[in-house]
Formats: sequence, structure tokens, C-alpha cells
Amino acid sequence: MFSCQISVKGAEGSAITTIEGLSAEGDHPLQRAWVAEQVPQCGYCQSGQIMRAAALLARSPQPSHDEIVDEMSANLCRCATYSRIVRAVERAAQEG
Ligand code: FES
Repeated sequence: MFSCQISVKGAEGSAITTIEGLSAEGDHPLQRAWVAEQVPQCGYCQSGQIMRAAALLARSPQPSHDEIVDEMSANLCRCATYSRIVRAVERAAQEG
């Protein structure tokens, strides 16, 4: 589910983590991997990409390549950074 599809009322009482909440120092494994793989192009989609990847790694710490591709295919990137996104998720899973 995308955050833009949830009303404020629908989120009432839920724990919400934003990209700023992943790490106060900006050194979450996904953030480090995103920098190492130079993932962003324009950056517009990147917060959502990283948060989807964080949710994936939270429930599946060592996802397969196909699992990453399948999960991340739900988030569009107009700059087509898909191959770098997959590499970054694989790196974060390895270094996590
Ligand atoms: S980096 Fe530009 S839309 Fe994804």
C-alpha cells in the first residue's frame, strides 16, 4: 500500500516511519547502498523506493534477486533507475 492512498484518519494509531526516520545519521544500510550505487537520477521517486526496500528487508533480510525485482516493480521511476535500485537493495542486504 502506498502512503498517498491512506488518509490521515486511516493512519491514526499506526506507527509511521519516514525516510528521515530510517537513520538519524543517514547511515542506514539502504542509504549507504543508495550512495554507493549512485542510484538517484532526478530523485523524485527515491524516498518511496528506499522505504519500499526497507519494508522488503524488514520482512525478508536476504531477498533473492527475483524477489527484489518483483517487490520494487510496484514503484515507478521515470528516470528508469531500476537496475541501480536492485543492485543497491542487494548491497544493503549483504552489508546490512
Ligand atoms: S530518479 Fe527520477 S523518477 Fe526516479
